[in-house]
Amino acid sequence: MEKLMITGGRPLQGTVSISGAKNSAIALIPAAILAESEVILDNLPLLSDVAVYSEILEELGATVTWEGSQMKIDPSSIKSIPMPNGPVKKLRASYYMMGAMLGRFKEAIIGLPGGCNFEPRPIDQHIKGFEALGATATNEHGAIHLHAKELRGTKIYLDVSSVGATINIMLAAARAKGATIIENAAKEPEIIDVATLLNSMGAIIKGAGTETIRIEGVSELHGCRHSIIPDRIQAGTYMIAAAATRGNVLIDNVIPKHMEALIAKMQEMGIGIEEYDESIRVLGAPSYEHVDVKALIYPGFATDLQSPMTSLLTQAQGVSVLSDFVYSNRFKHVPELVRMGAKIRVEGRSAIIEGGQLNAAKVKAADLRAGAALVIAGLTVSEGVTEVTGVEYIDRGYDHLVSNLRLLGADVWRQTE
Ligand code: EPU
Repeated sequence: MEKLMITGGRPLQGTVSISGAKNSAIALIPAAILAESEVILDNLPLLSDVAVYSEILEELGATVTWEGSQMKIDPSSIKSIPMPNGPVKKLRASYYMMGAMLGRFKEAIIGLPGGCNFEPRPIDQHIKGFEALGATATNEHGAIHLHAKELRGTKIYLDVSSVGATINIMLAAARAKGATIIENAAKEPEIIDVATLLNSMGAIIKGAGTETIRIEGVSELHGCRHSIIPDRIQAGTYMIAAAATRGNVLIDNVIPKHMEALIAKMQEMGIGIEEYDESIRVLGAPSYEHVDVKALIYPGFATDLQSPMTSLLTQAQGVSVLSDFVYSNRFKHVPELVRMGAKIRVEGRSAIIEGGQLNAAKVKAADLRAGAALVIAGLTVSEGVTEVTGVEYIDRGYDHLVSNLRLLGADVWRQTE
């Protein structure tokens, strides 16, 4: 078992470069199977989820070459193979194989996803979209069976602005007959990234990034080259870590516009922020104001930064209230932070956080962002060594975390038991 060992108390200093976005990459890789020829993805993050996705595509018969931050996917010889088990079970986002396979083959059998299960995460809106396009969907022994004689464009209203459902419907609709309109679509930057790739492949998608997306179906898509957007959650995590350690860090290769909600909250706390074209400098201060934060769908404060933000708010003076309106119970980091001496209680969808010093402890990451929160907490503690287990979750979303933190001056290392 691997764990992260952290001796904190050192202000992070220097520059960190952000990799491509995980939540884009794991939608763009399956999107590539809709093409008839090679798709090249640049700025790919080096993550375990990406490795699992390349395994899934290879299982289907695609040729995948992955070197550094570039992946070449040649889907010309892929076949429609049922995937009720195997690597699809390791990933939450394997649900994108449903939309991609349905778009390409009009059929798919995909095992229900694994991944970060911090609370039940339904996919009813994905299924509703596929059915509206003309597919039948059944759940047989934990695998979703999808089949359509043909996919026909239609109007689909999402009951919740789901990132996954919006992307999945775009994937299936890209090769449907006629026009599909998604209403109440999610507006996250990763959706624009997927639409950009599909359009480069010859799709006709308009309105991505707004709540109405129109997809004009085409019969065939071709290969292309695409560079993945920077990971706004990874960027936000380093911004928060820089502030929590009262450091001075330049976060490079970011789109500052994607970080607006976090920047606003950090400034409200009294943290110095300098914005440049493709980078952001975070300047820590000796003390921080408490703030209230509401995690919402984009462009609101990202739920994926809610757990890291909890750790930062333990460093503020007074009581902060952090509420999550995307997930009602994404608080698995809280009991672990309490183990480190944090004064936090959860009431309904909110964590009530009273600022104060943390202590080193042995803690366990129960999901990806909870893990990031514990690492940040460990970085603030100057006495003793914080041990974080559950590293496999953290590896799902943070490319080169340990080496990046070490370059910023942190005393962090991996230890295998
Ligand atoms: N929801 C439904 N029905 C559905 C789909 C979603 O009720 O069919 C609900 C969910 O339960 C949740 C809300 O809608 O309350 C939003 O869920 P969404 O579908 O937008 O989430 P997702 O697509 O499953 C992606 C990211 C998550 C991120 C959320 C919200 C990927 C692979 N995952 O999940 O990222 O938290 O959007 O922004 O893109 C992470 O990176 O740590 C992570 C969990």
